[in-house]
Amino acid sequence: MTQQDTDHAVEGEVSPTVSCSTDGVQALCKSSQLVEGGKGLRFVVSAFQGKYSAFVVRHRSGLSAFLNICAHMDLELDWVAGRFFDSEGHHLICSTHGALYDPVSGLCVKGPCRGAYLKPVAVRESSDQVFLADPSFVLMSIEL
Ligand code: FES
Repeated sequence: MTQQDTDHAVEGEVSPTVSCSTDGVQALCKSSQLVEGGKGLRFVVSAFQGKYSAFVVRHRSGLSAFLNICAHMDLELDWVAGRFFDSEGHHLICSTHGALYDPVSGLCVKGPCRGAYLKPVAVRESSDQVFLADPSFVLMSIEL
């Protein structure tokens, strides 16, 4: 991560209970909470001595999670908490300047940062639960 990433640390997030599964991965939500093209789940992770806003969404090919930092400027994507998709539910959209991202890869396909990527966060789904599965990050809180 860069110094710019560290500067994006978040403060004062509400922290509901964070639970761990028996194999140590951290539960984010029930699978049914994430609808294809619908509202995403925001959560906060720590890494590299900083805290970062992140989110997970369901798209046509499954789940993806990214740090909630636009590739254009150091700003969060959603203008209403948890709303990351465009009106068609096909692309993630940045609320500030309208960059469109492929929800599978995180690639910016249109906008001022075309060709750049969102920073991915590994998640997995099993037994009707979505888990943070990225050893680079520690789950700090979930925004319900
Ligand atoms: S800050 Fe996201 S497109 Fe400019």
